Amino acid sequence: FIYIIIALFVSYLIGSIPWGYIIPKVFRNIDIREHGSKNVGSTNVTRTLGKKFGIPVFLLDSFKGALPIIIIRYILQGQIHTDLNFINQYDIVIFYGVAAGVGHIFSIFLRGKGGKAVATGVGAVIALNPIVGLSGILIFFIVAFATRYVSIGSVVATFLVGVGMWISVALAPSQTFETQFFNLIAISFMCLLIIYMHKKNFIRLKNGTENRIGQKKNK
Ligand code: G3P
Repeated sequence: FIYIIIALFVSYLIGSIPWGYIIPKVFRNIDIREHGSKNVGSTNVTRTLGKKFGIPVFLLDSFKGALPIIIIRYILQGQIHTDLNFINQYDIVIFYGVAAGVGHIFSIFLRGKGGKAVATGVGAVIALNPIVGLSGILIFFIVAFATRYVSIGSVVATFLVGVGMWISVALAPSQTFETQFFNLIAISFMCLLIIYMHKKNFIRLKNGTENRIGQKKNK
C-alpha cells in the first residue's frame, strides 16, 4: 500500500512541473501569469508567444499525464499477482493520471496554483484509452474551431471524454466492483475539476470578453 502512496505522490510531482511557466520564463523571460488569460497552459502560451512555444508546452504537459501511467504499466509488466495483491494494480492506473492532473492544477512549484489540466488530461487519457483520447482531441478541434473559443472546446471535450472513460471502465472485464466504483469516482472528480477550473472562462464568456481564436486582444 505504501508503494501506491509513493507512486501517487511521484505522479503528483511529475504533474506539478509547470511547463507553461518554465518555457516562457526560460526562453523569453516572461511570467506567463501576467499575460493573456494569465493561465499557465499551452493555450495562453500560444496566445502570448505563438505556436512555436505553445505546441511544445502542450506536448510536454500531455506527456506529464501519460508518463506516470506508462511507468506504472512498465513496472507492473510481468509482475505476478498473488493473493496478497488484493488490488489489481492495472485496474487503478487511472489514479496516477488523476494525481498528475491534480499536480498540474495545484502545482507544488507554483505554491499550489497551476493550470486547468486539459493537456495533462489528454496525455493521461491517451495512455489509458487511445480511442477515447483521440476522439476527445477531435471533438475539441471541432467545437473549438466552430465556436472560436478554446475554453468551450476544452469543456465540451472534457465532458464527453468523461462519458467515454465511464463507458470504458464500466465495460472493463478485469475490474472488481470496488475498483470500478473508485475509478468512476476518479474520472468524475477529474473531469469536474477541469471544468470547474474554467470558471473564469465562463464568466468571460458571459461578459463577452473571452479570448477568441485568432483574436490578438487579450483579457
Ligand atoms: O486549456 C485551457 C483552455 O481551455 C482555456 O485557456 O488561457 O483561454 O483560459 P485560457
